[in-house]
Amino acid sequence: MTGSGKPSGGILEWLAIRNAVEKLGAQRVWSDALSWTRFTGSLALALLVLLCLTGVFMAFNYTPVPGTAYDSVDFAQFSLPFGGLIRGVHHYAWNLLLMVMGLHLARALVVAGYQPPRELTWISGLLIMLFIPVFIITGDLLPWDQKGFWSTQVRTSIMGSVPVAGDWMVRLLQGGPRTGIVALTRFYVLHLLVLPGTLLLLVGLHFHFVAHRGVSEPLFSTRERRQVSLFPTMVNRWLLLLLIITVALGAVAYLWPVPLGDPADPTDSNYIPKPEWWVLFLNQLVAIFRGPLMVLGTAVIPGALAAGLMVLPFIDRGPERHPLRRKAMLTVIAAIGLVLLVLSIMGYLEHYGPPPA
Ligand code: HEM
Repeated sequence: MTGSGKPSGGILEWLAIRNAVEKLGAQRVWSDALSWTRFTGSLALALLVLLCLTGVFMAFNYTPVPGTAYDSVDFAQFSLPFGGLIRGVHHYAWNLLLMVMGLHLARALVVAGYQPPRELTWISGLLIMLFIPVFIITGDLLPWDQKGFWSTQVRTSIMGSVPVAGDWMVRLLQGGPRTGIVALTRFYVLHLLVLPGTLLLLVGLHFHFVAHRGVSEPLFSTRERRQVSLFPTMVNRWLLLLLIITVALGAVAYLWPVPLGDPADPTDSNYIPKPEWWVLFLNQLVAIFRGPLMVLGTAVIPGALAAGLMVLPFIDRGPERHPLRRKAMLTVIAAIGLVLLVLSIMGYLEHYGPPPA
């Protein structure tokens, strides 16, 4: 302290954060936790941050009332400086997040990153993955355009077909059987408040386990592993990744602006929404199992897949991690992946392919 009562140790001391910064600087992490061969987790985090930032900007100009909602998005997109760019980055970021999470999961499957002691890292990751679609579904309705409105009708009717709880879930979500002002208010509060809060918790949990259980040792590299400081080395690497992905998505959003469809018309039941790429396989499952078997496509098969992934670390407990020595396990996983791919291609051809002659 100086005679005037001010601390003498510079700005960190003055802000009373010297201890915290020193502790952060003393944290060591494996250098390969963010490297050319392992970056999907850090990229997913960068995309989440970008989604939050662009989401906050959009929220400043959004009105959650049917009709006005569309006008507010229209105004932000076409009249506000950078409005279209920010909406575009938000849109491309969640699409890319789904792909990056898929790669992150696939990598963990191939190198058995889920094996003990990382069971809870895996399970917390799966919970995040199952959670992201709820974000997309709630966000889709917010512009109150034809696509969002009618896609919500399809989703709520599929949800309503789930035995016992289906109808109740739809009413809870929409405040009634119809998609109106209560539904928009609920989707808005979920998308901007409840879901981000829950996601923050889940991501915090995932990082807690990544920090405490560590990342798996590299399988294919012969170089000796070294540790680096979390701050500034690792944080700087991550900031560089954030900068690169922001510029890249900004360029994509500038070159291919995200369209805004026509305003929602609840009386126009001729509008048939096309399923997005990431639900094509689910859509196809729903299309294959009709009538009394519908529950297989809507709940039983997707539920069994999720449950199978959840229990994987308790079935394949290691210590063998090399993919060539886990052939049986990887063959089953690849076969399931192939079925999902074929279903997606079938769905794509049905919805986006040439019309039948
Ligand atoms: C927004 C979502 C996610 C974020 C931000 C995230 C972040 C991370 C980070 C930074 C790491 C350490 C470095 C790395 O391995 O890339 C990691 C590791 C891991 N994550 Fe995630 N993750 C997410 C989603 C998921 C999902 C969906 C799964 C799988 C279901 C998952 C499972 C794992 C596993 C098993 C590891 C340890 C991998 C190993 O040690 O080889 N994560 N995650």
